[in-house]
Amino acid sequence: MPFEVNPLGDRFAAEIVGIDLARELPDDAFAAVRAAWFDAGVVVFRDQRLPPGRQVAFSRRFGDLIVHVMQQFLLPGHPEILLISNRKHPDGTPMGFEDAGRYWHSDISYDERPALGSHLYAVEIPPEGGDTLFADMRHALKTLPDDLRRRIEGRRARHSYTRNHRRNETVAGGRPAFSAEQRDRLNDVSHPMTRRLEDTGEEALFVNPGFTFAIDDMDEAESDDLLAALFEHSTREAFLYTHEWRRGDLLCWDNRSVMHRAILYDPAETRHMHRTTIAGLRPV
Ligand code: OGA
Ligand code: MN
Repeated sequence: MPFEVNPLGDRFAAEIVGIDLARELPDDAFAAVRAAWFDAGVVVFRDQRLPPGRQVAFSRRFGDLIVHVMQQFLLPGHPEILLISNRKHPDGTPMGFEDAGRYWHSDISYDERPALGSHLYAVEIPPEGGDTLFADMRHALKTLPDDLRRRIEGRRARHSYTRNHRRNETVAGGRPAFSAEQRDRLNDVSHPMTRRLEDTGEEALFVNPGFTFAIDDMDEAESDDLLAALFEHSTREAFLYTHEWRRGDLLCWDNRSVMHRAILYDPAETRHMHRTTIAGLRPV
């Protein structure tokens, strides 16, 4: 099955044209798609008609799928699908995460095994707004000034979901409280500040403002300053790609090599997305 890979951003992100994901890909085409995805960091397949079962089947070819800790936001009958949505149940409670991260983040970086990748399918999108921004963390590491590079060499940093959640509770919309069982799954973890992509051996900076809160064995003020400098460097305009959604997009990102953030949209409009999340390995 021949397909084309057309670059979208200057340095990363691409559109894959000529593939219908509703049909099972032959192994050789799948291998080529996988390689193109990891190379580009972010790829989009446009105009897809993807029932939940098909999205799950496609995502599962890349690895085990993560069932998100916020069970109330899983698609009934398909727990591998997390709803990113501002639709409401008849009783007014939200069906999904209304904003899936206005802070720059890498999905599930707070777990011992962070997500390898995420696949987000646009079921309904607002006429404007609601773009998703991506930052290229391979390029961020490559261009990191020497002094910053020396200061992170061999170091690890801590990631936490509960801190991010608490911060979100203080902004409009908020987040529901955790159950005891949800809390049990959410211990802080330490990861190396740079990580190697298993397939290509390339390296990427692996810290994000959403979940990374402290550098191990460093005093708090120095750690805060250094993290702020790293975040500032990695979100410079030149490293970004902005995804403007169309209905039927399946957008795939590699959480090892990019971070992302959601942009606001008019809450009177509907935005409804299905996310599958692929488990990765412990970063090294
Ligand atoms: C996500 C996410 C951003 C968006 O689904 O992980 O961060 O724009 N989404 O919905
Ligand atoms: Mn996310």
